[in-house]
Amino acid sequence: MHVFIVYAHPSEDSFTRRVRDAFIEGCTATGHSVEISDLYKMNFRTDMSEAEYLRDANFNDTLPVESDVVAEQEKINRCEVIVFIYPVFWTEAPAKLVGWFNRVWSYGFAYGNRSMKSLKKGICICTSGHPIGRLKEYGHLEAMKTVMINDRLFDRVASSEFVVLDGMTKADTERRKNNWKRHLDTAYETGRNL
Ligand SMILES: Cc1cc2nc3c(=O)[nH]c(=O)nc-3n(C[C@H](O)[C@H](O)[C@H](O)COP(=O)(O)O)c2cc1C
Repeated sequence: MHVFIVYAHPSEDSFTRRVRDAFIEGCTATGHSVEISDLYKMNFRTDMSEAEYLRDANFNDTLPVESDVVAEQEKINRCEVIVFIYPVFWTEAPAKLVGWFNRVWSYGFAYGNRSMKSLKKGICICTSGHPIGRLKEYGHLEAMKTVMINDRLFDRVASSEFVVLDGMTKADTERRKNNWKRHLDTAYETGRNL
């Protein structure tokens, strides 16, 4: 299958970057092809322009779509599986990825009379500082899943998966000892078993 990865982390020196690499290794080991948008590296513009707002808010798909947005939409329409890889920032994806949705999920593409292809699968792989138990206890996990899976992916994918690689804050002594390898193995296996 052809896999499109939307990756958002500001630093190459991050655990999330290693997760991305392990996931790609898993994909290619099974013969899947991979295409990636590295949103910070691309300096992807994430603020909506007024013209974009007026187009989307007024449900007017006769207005033009910016070329950087069209390029992302073309990547989506040539993949079977879309994968989002990012760190949790304040119980959300980084603003860079949220802004990508604001612009790329445009009227006439992702809603309205959609030209977006129905995808086989959507996967979110996020890294968190907090352990999973805490994310559940305070409702953070449910909130993140609701937004990413039930709203953004919704029926645009036939199946979906939300993977949290938890306990990865640099202050946590368990980070390297227990979680590092286990999480990279999970990322690899998620890519291998698409
Ligand atoms: C600005 C900022 C906000 C963060 N917010 C959260 C949060 O709300 N919940 C959480 O579990 N971890 C949070 N973290 C921790 C990151 O998710 C953590 O950096 C990441 O999971 C793993 O590390 P990496 O940055 O080396 O990839 C935050 C980190 C930063 C820098």
